[in-house]
Amino acid sequence: MGTIRQAYYDLFSRIYDHVIRLHSRDRQGSLRRFITDRTRVSEGDRALDLCTGTGAVAVELAARVGKGGLAVGLDFSFGMLQKAKQKSVNLNLSQLCFVRANAARLPFKDSAFRGVTCSHAFYELKGVERELAVDEVARVLEKGGRFCLMEHARPERLFPRVLFYIRLFFLGSRDVKQFLRNEESIFGGKFKNIAKEMSPTGQSKLICGEKRGE
Ligand SMILES: C[S@@+](CC[C@H](N)C(=O)[O-])C[C@H]1O[C@@H](n2cnc3c(N)ncnc32)[C@H](O)[C@@H]1O
Repeated sequence: MGTIRQAYYDLFSRIYDHVIRLHSRDRQGSLRRFITDRTRVSEGDRALDLCTGTGAVAVELAARVGKGGLAVGLDFSFGMLQKAKQKSVNLNLSQLCFVRANAARLPFKDSAFRGVTCSHAFYELKGVERELAVDEVARVLEKGGRFCLMEHARPERLFPRVLFYIRLFFLGSRDVKQFLRNEESIFGGKFKNIAKEMSPTGQSKLICGEKRGE
């Protein structure tokens, strides 16, 4: 599982939360509530946070499903997961666990989850990996379960916009333009009631879909 991207994230994990805090000026809490709210998971449900990083969204999911439910945070970076685990221990969230795996090959059985989230990470999955991840999300969701993915919106101002495109380019999203124009299509034929909306901060967008029946 040793790739350059994993090594990059292992290193980045040491300062990730500080960077986010500076960058978001504490609007992160409202973003986490926004995405978990839209999954519509509740007490006793099972929920998955894909590419969980240091586990911010997974912690919010755990609060929603309560002690009778289960929240799982998945990531391929050991460094990120260590930080995430520390958070769940500090908060005494026994209903939250973390799994190290690739988003394109989920180690869960079919229909295992009521809701799946992916926050600010989906753009980083490259072509085939991205398609496989969507297929895997559809497989592990139960019928009617919701997949909500949140991403940075294209900034209006020039300088942040240039940085946004540089990020996409270096992360391997070379089909950027086509992808940005056509994001909803990544939900393919596997989801219905696909809706896109802006976050309350105006800086992120959320796309949600509901798993179709067979
Ligand atoms: C920008 S961070 C976002 C973390 C978190 N979701 C958040 O909103 O703070 C991207 C995360 O995606 C993870 N990641 C990237 N590609 C992945 C893959 N193919 N499988 C699993 N995790 C992946 C990285 O390790 C990193 O933790």
